[in-house]
Amino acid sequence: MAGRELRAKPRVMTKDTHGRRPLVAGNWKMNGLFAAGAEVESLVNRVRASAPAADVLICPPATLIRPFAAAWGQRGVAFGGQDCHHADEGAFTGDISAAMIRDAGGDYVIVGHSERRSYYGETDQVVSHKAAAAHRAGIVSIVCVGETLAEREAGRAIDVVSQQVDFSLPTLSNAGNTVLAYEPVWAIGTGKTPSTDDIVAMHHAVRTRLTARFGAAEGNRMRILYGGSVKPANAREILALADVDGALVGGASLLARDFDAILDAYRS
Ligand code: 13P
Repeated sequence: MAGRELRAKPRVMTKDTHGRRPLVAGNWKMNGLFAAGAEVESLVNRVRASAPAADVLICPPATLIRPFAAAWGQRGVAFGGQDCHHADEGAFTGDISAAMIRDAGGDYVIVGHSERRSYYGETDQVVSHKAAAAHRAGIVSIVCVGETLAEREAGRAIDVVSQQVDFSLPTLSNAGNTVLAYEPVWAIGTGKTPSTDDIVAMHHAVRTRLTARFGAAEGNRMRILYGGSVKPANAREILALADVDGALVGGASLLARDFDAILDAYRS
């Protein structure tokens, strides 16, 4: 009986996580003006009213990190950037550095998102250098990897993602400064998600690469997020899967109500 109940409503607390604290991160992409702070305030109030057993992060456009962190930092929701340059400073018009994100109140930065890889030609090597810049600045890099639909249909998804993991992480990566995010390109903004078996297989493959390179203890402590059409309706099932240590959420992070409903997976 209890077993049936567990299957009907999976609980994320029952799996072996090697002490990893989940992270649920919202990637606002190029959405949101200053007025969107109303959604952040609503989210902060919801998180304070009922704290999830997870870290909560919003990555708004860079222009909003400072005002949001100033108004709502240290109140249960962290803030971060969506990209940074790989250099610490210099003549790179339009770019921002990891130190600037930290200076604005950010604790994290997403690097190597598939939109950066495809629209701006970022390679694994560039992504690795950006993650290293984040580490120098003292903020956590969220390193994104993921296969295209053509790669999945060709049966190459695990090979492609394993290679991205190998080459997108700098040598000094560890569980304190690095989070992996598996985001299948074909699942982003499409309403499609891989089967739960495929998510488990991929997260296991990523975990295997991490433990092979950084050692069992460190590799098992690194968090691996799933991203791609995570919504309130599917979050509980996805977040309960083995080796899924949280989510990177796009569209459903823009409204506090939806994002907070995703966090319910980590409330008892
Ligand atoms: P969606 O949740 O809108 O599919 O976006 C996922 C994503 O790209 C997060 O980085």
